[in-house]
Order: sequence, then C-alpha cells, then structure tokens
Amino acid sequence: MKILLLTHSFNSLSQRLYVEIERLGHDLSVEFDIHDNVTIEAVDLFQPDLIIAPFLKRAIPKSVYKSVPCLIVHPGPLGDRGPSSLDWAIFKGVKEWGVTLLQAEAEMDAGPVWAHRTFPMRTATKSSLYRNEVTEMAVECVLEALEKFDDPTFKPEYLTGKGMWQDLMKQATRQINWQKDDSATILRKINSADGTPGVLDGDYYLHNAKIDDGLSGPAGEILATCNGAICKGTIDGAIWIGHLRKKGKDNFKLPATHVLELNDQLGERDIYLKIEDKIGYLHFPFHNGAMNTDQCKRLLHAYEDACHEDIHTIILMGGDDFFSNGIHLNAIEAAERPAEESWANINAMDDLCEAIITTTDKVTVAALSGNAGAGGVFFALTCDRIYARSGVILNPHYKNMGNLFGSEYWTYLLPKRIGSGNEDKVMQHRLPIGALEAVELGLIDDCFGKTFTDFQALMKEQVQMLEHETIIADKVLQREKDEAAKPLANYRAEELERMKLNFFGFDPSYHVARYKFVLREVKSHTPLYLAKHRQRVKNSNYGTKSRTT
Ligand code: COA
Repeated sequence: MKILLLTHSFNSLSQRLYVEIERLGHDLSVEFDIHDNVTIEAVDLFQPDLIIAPFLKRAIPKSVYKSVPCLIVHPGPLGDRGPSSLDWAIFKGVKEWGVTLLQAEAEMDAGPVWAHRTFPMRTATKSSLYRNEVTEMAVECVLEALEKFDDPTFKPEYLTGKGMWQDLMKQATRQINWQKDDSATILRKINSADGTPGVLDGDYYLHNAKIDDGLSGPAGEILATCNGAICKGTIDGAIWIGHLRKKGKDNFKLPATHVLELNDQLGERDIYLKIEDKIGYLHFPFHNGAMNTDQCKRLLHAYEDACHEDIHTIILMGGDDFFSNGIHLNAIEAAERPAEESWANINAMDDLCEAIITTTDKVTVAALSGNAGAGGVFFALTCDRIYARSGVILNPHYKNMGNLFGSEYWTYLLPKRIGSGNEDKVMQHRLPIGALEAVELGLIDDCFGKTFTDFQALMKEQVQMLEHETIIADKVLQREKDEAAKPLANYRAEELERMKLNFFGFDPSYHVARYKFVLREVKSHTPLYLAKHRQRVKNSNYGTKSRTT
C-alpha cells in the first residue's frame, strides 16, 4: 500500500511511525505540511492509498481529504478536541489520558474514529509523555488502522467520549503566581509547556523543572544554583529550574545560570551512580540528551570513579527520555567562539569515549531507554554490550548537521559492529533506524520492553546473566590486537582532522545547520531523502514544478 506521512516536521513520533510502517513493507513517503498547494502536489505525485498525519499544526486541504482517507493522530482520548490537548491534561492533573486516530473532516478532530487508546498519566513533561506513552499508543492505533484498512467490512464510526473541545492554552493560563501556587502546581504548569512553548515568567520561558525535597526559602527567590540549574523558593518548599529561554525570537534554551549570568555551584544533580549486586548504574539524564563540554568532563570523572568501585559491570543509563544526542549544539551556539567550543566539546566527548573503550577490567553496557542521535549513538557503541528499549529510534549519522564528519571513534567502532565496508549503510543513510532493525544490522545487541520500566527490569536480568569474566578476557585480547593493528589515537586524530575542517574550514555548512537547528527553524521544503515521490520525479526528469533539493 502507498502511504504518505503528512507532518509538520519529522519529529520523534513521525520517525517512529516511519520505522513501524516501513517494517510492514509498505511504500512510504513523507511530505512536510508547508502549504496547501505543496500538499496537493505531493498527493498528485505520489497517489497514496492512505495519508497518515502524525503531527499537524494546520488543517488538511479539503480536496485532499475528500480524495484520499487521511488519518490524524490526536494526542487526546475519545471526544477530546483542540490544539493543546496534552497541555491541558498535564495542567489539570488528570489521571488518565489517551490517543485517538481520527479521519480528517471539515471540523477539527471531529471525524470518525479508526482506533483509540488510553494510558495512565505520569508526572512528567509534555515532551516526555509525547515521546513515550503518546508515541506507543499512536503506534498501536496506526497498526490497528492499517489492519482495518484491509478489511472491507470496517467502517469508522463517530464516537463520543468524556473529552470535549479545549482552546489553545495561552500564557495567561500558564502564568505562575509565586505567592499562591504551591510546588506541585508550578511543576504541573512548567511540565505542561515543556519543551514548547515554555512558561513565560517575567522575561524568561521556564523549562526542565524538578521539585526539591529539602530546600525552602522566600517564594519566587533564587535559593541555590547547581550545574546550570537555579532553585527557586515556593510557598511550600523549592523547585529547580534547569533551563531558561529569554523572550525574543533570536533566543534559545540554555542552562538557567548561563542565561542569568549567575555563578554555578557544583553538585551531582545530573549525574549519579547506583550500585547493586556489583553492578554500577551510571545515570546521566542530561536535558534533551545533549552533552556539553562540562557535562562530558564531569561524566568522565564519574565514570573513572565508578571504575574504582568494587563492581564488575558499569551500565551507562543515560536518561529515561534520551540516551544521548551528542555534543551540545545550544551551548556551542551560545559560546563566544562556536568553532572553538565545538572543538572543546568533541574532544571532551572523545576523552569520555576513550576511557570506556580502554576499560579492560570491567564489562561496560549501554542501556538505551530513550532515543539516541548522531554522536550519542556512537558513544553507546563504546560499550561491550548495547541494549535498547524496543521502541527506541536511533539516528546514527551526522549528515543532517551540515555534513559533519563526526568523531566519537566511530571509524573504529562501527566496522567492528556491522562489518568493514558496510559503514555507508549507516553513515550515508539519513533515515531513522528502529531498535529491531539496529539489532538485525548488528549495531546493537538486543532490544526488549515497551516502557522504560519494563526495559530497565529486563535489561537488569540480561546483564546479570552476562559471563563477565569471559567478556573481560576476550576484550583484553581484542583490544591488544586492535591497538597493534592501528592505535586508537590514530582513529581519533584522523576523525578530528576532518572535524577541524567542519569547524574551522571554509565550508560553513555545519555552523549554518547548527544555527537553524538551535533556533528550531521551520523547514521550507521536504528533503529528498524523505520525499520519495519527489525523488522519483527527479530521477525521471519529469515535472518542472517539483523541487530537486
Ligand atoms: N544539542 C542540543 N539540543 C539538542 C541536541 C543537541 N545535540 N539534540 C537534540 N536537542 C534538543 C532539540 O533542540 C529539542 O529541544 P526542545 O524540544 O526542548 O526544543 C529536543 O532536544 C528534542 O529534539 P528534536 O529534534 O525535537 O527530537 P527528534 O526526536 O525530532 O529528533 C534527533 C532527534 C537526534 C534526530 C535530532 O534532535 C537531532 O538531529 N539532533 C542533533 C544531533 C546532532 O547533530 N548532534 C551533534 C553532532 S554529535
């Protein structure tokens, strides 16, 4: 079947649906929802049997939904309608929420229903709920709908539920009253707006909040700082705010102390080690999986400390939402000299990778509860074993960041995993890879568990069964052999030589791509690697109206 994904951007949910639908063998293409005429053109070119819209900010043109069934993923339960569904659910503190797959009709979110699911709510940010519960339920709904699509007896019905129309949530509703709101209310307000648009408080949008369990002080006042975060007093305690974005369209999200130019106190708020049964679990839930120079250095110290513990295995846990997305593009963009900061960041990342690769007295495991991208994937490959949650999406390439060559010892690690000569399959392939496909490719060892709680429990069992003495003995021999064939330092030097050109050379592609990424610039066209219908036109030299870049 020919399926077109029509979406505002190729976000995490669209990427996951792409992987799931492709796995079923359908002919799949993607078009960004930029303008009605572009959507109409895409439908003309591709002639899809079905359109799936995972993430839209505008209505689908009538001529399109009248000619092709269009299924819209709505992140709300039956009957819920409107553009701020999840925001309202978190804001109101509902116990259960849902996802509905509706057929597009004139009235927004009011069409007949193809599938729907509910899930228990968790205390988490909107982005986290979207990347986990909403995504899992949306996948179930879409897979169910694809089965129904083949069933000639199925007719979607107009179903009503307890939900109702809810308007776009405005900043006036989100506003924090520091003299009246308790910590839980403030957390709900910030969570319901995180990552976009953030809660506007004075001149700053607030992001990444966590209630403190000990501090207290005057409500609204800054009581402490730690590793980029500020802690503000509330009427019943205190709350940490990790990131701020100053009002204004050219500003982007950065650690709060950086934005407010405050001195930072050290602490282990974002890195911690837990030891259980001679296994060390090293957690580093960095915001959005981005790792700045300081975080890489602190993580290296924490890793080295873990190496001195009486344990036989170290598990890199990352965070629940992301394992790692590589170097910190926002921190680099904000630096006085971005090229120099890029250099410092990648070197700090490489130091960390080197320490893990050369650990020959412990088993190392990467446990990917959440997605990983670019250098974050190769960072995981430094470990002896790599396990992922089954819904994890990997983007193991640097191409989308202005053709960055990449480092993290990928030229050493990747061929070892997928076989020499196969590197292009990963590095030139700009599309996301599902965990299952990554196992088939040999990129990772195994995937299991639907939720991150299930994954972590199953991963623990798996790691306990590893024969650590054998793994360590094999590793020692292999490392010696590899080092004799080509020293690790040479791989690094060669990669960094190419990165130097990316950072300091004449071609500004990386700096331009980073700037656009950090400012969340909306794409003006769908890249050809996604819009297959446009590739076909380009290849057959047919049609002057379509884009070729
Ligand atoms: N540095 C800083 N922020 C990053 C980041 C990075 N390396 N990678 C992701 N983020 C942030 C995004 O800005 C976004 O922030 P917001 O939602 O709080 O505004 C958030 O993480 C989620 O990213 P998003 O792009 O919306 O997620 P996605 O699931 O759609 O896509 C990736 C995931 C990994 C494909 C995409 O984020 C990406 O390409 N990241 C850049 C990776 C990279 O090139 N790293 C540098 C080379 S090592």
